[in-house]
Amino acid sequence: MKIARTIEEFRALRRELPGPVGLFPTLGALHEGHLALIERARGENASVVTSLFVNPTQFGPNEDFSLYPRDEERDCRLFREAGVNLVFVPSLEEMYPAGFDVTVRVGGVTERLEGERRPGHFDGVATIVAKIFTVTQPDRAYFGEKDGQQLLVIRKLVRDLNLPVEIVACPTVRDPDGLALSSRNAYLSPEEREQALSLSRGLRLATKAFADGERGADALRRIARREIEAQSLSDIDYVALADAETLAEVEGEVTRPALLLVAVRFGKTRLIDNARLTVD
Ligand code: PAJ
Repeated sequence: MKIARTIEEFRALRRELPGPVGLFPTLGALHEGHLALIERARGENASVVTSLFVNPTQFGPNEDFSLYPRDEERDCRLFREAGVNLVFVPSLEEMYPAGFDVTVRVGGVTERLEGERRPGHFDGVATIVAKIFTVTQPDRAYFGEKDGQQLLVIRKLVRDLNLPVEIVACPTVRDPDGLALSSRNAYLSPEEREQALSLSRGLRLATKAFADGERGADALRRIARREIEAQSLSDIDYVALADAETLAEVEGEVTRPALLLVAVRFGKTRLIDNARLTVD
């Protein structure tokens, strides 16, 4: 496995790789969820490249940019063990040199939910992902359904800018007890972690009700909300049931594919999760 720290270095090494090339971009602090995406990329491509970069522009002023867990040595060891061929680990200056002054802003799907609570977050994501695509020039790029809204933003970015990359959506990887794997789970106390299981439980109950025929958007939102609200330490940011393509809130009945999305604080830790409701 080779490690490139500059764009020039990466491009020279990238030229040697047999195609197709699969890309997995990450902030690091790797867990099994990330590794599942890399494994999928390995199975579908001749070469796999990753980018490891804690992107400051997608963190808000009161978010955890400076505290975000960084362990390059561990992440690179896991990349190597997972069979990654080439890693891009740029410095801040390499990605945002003095005078850098472009923002890629995706409209529509960024307006609500995470976009509303975290102003500028998706501008940061779209800008860095566009840059990483340009540098790495992958045939396919792998993203997790865990960050459901981010996935919609990336799809829109690729579609509207005609970027020559296929976006591959990968299912959310969970601990056996249901908790969606996230680098931020490390911040949870044992009691908070126990109560955080209500997110996946609430989503599961609502999904089950949907499978059993419940189509009322209010009723489905209520089922998930009730489960999470019952936890003494939970502070619900939102429980939304939105169109799976436009992310517009569903009123009345669910008649098209939809996403049930939740964001909940436990102490200082904010967790997100979602489930897809598909109409046959
Ligand atoms: P990061 O949080 O490191 O996540 C990297 C990728 O792993 C994302 O596509 C995310 O959706 C996916 N992922 C995280 N947890 C997962 C889980 N439990 N199951 C399946 N997939 C999971 O998302 C980012 O980084 C950044 O915003 C990035 C796209 C790299 C831009 O900076």
